[in-house]
Amino acid sequence: MCTFVSSAMHPRNQLRRGRAAATAAVLLAIGLGAAFTDADTDTFIYAGCSPSKYQPGTPYEGNLKSLLASITNAAPTGAYSSFANGTGDGAAAYGLYQCRGDLGDGECAACVRSALAQLDQVCPGASAASLQLEGCYVRYDGTNFVGRPDTAMVYRKCSASTSADAGFLGSRDAVLGALQAAAGGYRTGSSGGVQGVSQCLGDLAAADCTACLAQAVGQLKGACGTALAADVHLAQCYVRYWASGYYFRPSQDYSQDDVGRTVAIIIGILAGLALIVVFLSFLRKSC
Ligand SMILES: *[C@@H]1O[C@H](CO)[C@@H](O)[C@H](O)[C@H]1NC(C)=O
Repeated sequence: MCTFVSSAMHPRNQLRRGRAAATAAVLLAIGLGAAFTDADTDTFIYAGCSPSKYQPGTPYEGNLKSLLASITNAAPTGAYSSFANGTGDGAAAYGLYQCRGDLGDGECAACVRSALAQLDQVCPGASAASLQLEGCYVRYDGTNFVGRPDTAMVYRKCSASTSADAGFLGSRDAVLGALQAAAGGYRTGSSGGVQGVSQCLGDLAAADCTACLAQAVGQLKGACGTALAADVHLAQCYVRYWASGYYFRPSQDYSQDDVGRTVAIIIGILAGLALIVVFLSFLRKSC
């Protein structure tokens, strides 16, 4: 019989077991990490669909198709672009996409492809729609919204878990302060055990970006109070923070995506269990 009490073991056995345990732990961490990050960028956060639908065969439908094709073609070449296709009231289509600032071109393109596919399912035939995934954002409309100031709140999520710990709240405020002070582009921040990210749309002027971020931070603090994690998306910027290690998944409401995530997590856990079984049989053999 093998026991896990190590004091009676020969030192060399102890060392070997320690190494095997460390190896198993690292592999388990890699397995789980891969399962989580694979599902990350195309995780659904929110979508908004206009109640009105466009009529098939209209000029608007043709222009919208061109616009969506342009978005797909442009996504591998940059993190942000806006488009206008066709002219005239009721016929022109306007749109844009933006990727999270830390994505490479290939990841950006894959995310945008996924966003357009999900948009097609969530908002079929909608005259105007927007959709936000973890890694990217797409929006189209029949009226030109590109570059027009818009501070509407689109999405907000606060974690149910909270902490009134002064250290946590101080770190959170430091992170939000740093994210808010940084106008333009994609920004990450961390302080103590808190991390955060913020991003403005690529067409937003620096001053408008600062104003947008300030409003989002106000929403985070006002509406989410002492939440361990929170996420606010206004029409042209977003700010989110989370306590390190707090696994904050904003999306619970898009079934297809949840299935993919659940499968990924189960595979990760099974891989980890398999490694533990291998490790245990190794232990038994070595006794
Ligand atoms: C749609 O508009 C973009 C620029 O906004 C342009 O590059 C693209 O060629 C247009 N597509 C068509 C089919 O006209």
